Amino acid sequence: MQKQISSVIEVRGLYKKVEDAAGSLTILDDIDLSIEAGSRVAIVGASGSGKSTLLGLLAGLDRASAGSVHLLGHDLAELDEDARAALRRGAVGFVFQSFQLMPHLTALENVMLPLELQGGIAASEAAQRARTLLEQVGLGQRTGHYPKLLSGGEQQRVALARAFVTRPALLFADEPTGSLDAATGHAVIELMFEMNRASGATLVLVTHDAELARRCDRTVTIEAGRLV
Ligand SMILES: Nc1ncnc2c1ncn2[C@@H]1O[C@H](COP(=O)(O)OP(=O)(O)OP(=O)(O)O)[C@@H](O)[C@H]1O
Ligand SMILES: [Mg+2]
Repeated sequence: MQKQISSVIEVRGLYKKVEDAAGSLTILDDIDLSIEAGSRVAIVGASGSGKSTLLGLLAGLDRASAGSVHLLGHDLAELDEDARAALRRGAVGFVFQSFQLMPHLTALENVMLPLELQGGIAASEAAQRARTLLEQVGLGQRTGHYPKLLSGGEQQRVALARAFVTRPALLFADEPTGSLDAATGHAVIELMFEMNRASGATLVLVTHDAELARRCDRTVTIEAGRLV
């Protein structure tokens, strides 16, 4: 019997531990966190404190060592790899710190990919939506470029467009403005908050950007794997 869950993300007693030659390392240490639907949450903390690890666990990209993550009412530990992938495909956009673009696809094809994986949309419409988003992030003149021909900030913007294209209920972004100048960063922040306003998307953002953190409803600080 599933218990009633009002938050889109509900984390209880979450641990992430890894074993290596030097012994056991606790990366996340007993995290409890609830995130309400439609809210904007900034995750901040020093380098190496566990922010990216937490984001990956919240989005179901990684498995916890102990504790639970409920995402949109689903206990991620009870879903297999395929079921978690289906949940992500339907509801989650993720912007990786290292962008993770497909090197053999153009900018346009990278942004179209999540729509093609979802299915049920004509290629011409997928291309049109991808093109519109690339224009919104200022890359209308770069749609045919492969990732290796794009600058770091341009790759980051393609990664953002790819995360937005399915209009996800939940957007996770790992330092989404980290490689951008102030003006471009501001435009990208506007785009994320517009998604939040227009469709009630929940935003969970790892950031060192003061403007971005200030515009969120809530800031969660992580120190050596613990929330403070
Ligand atoms: N699979 C792994 N095996 C061993 N150590 C890991 C693994 N994943 C992460 N770590 C360690 O866990 C710690 C937290 O990593 P994480 O990437 O979550 O930090 P972060 O807060 O995102 O840092 P940054 O701000 O530099 O991106 C780091 O010390 C990292 O070396
Ligand atoms: Mg990180």
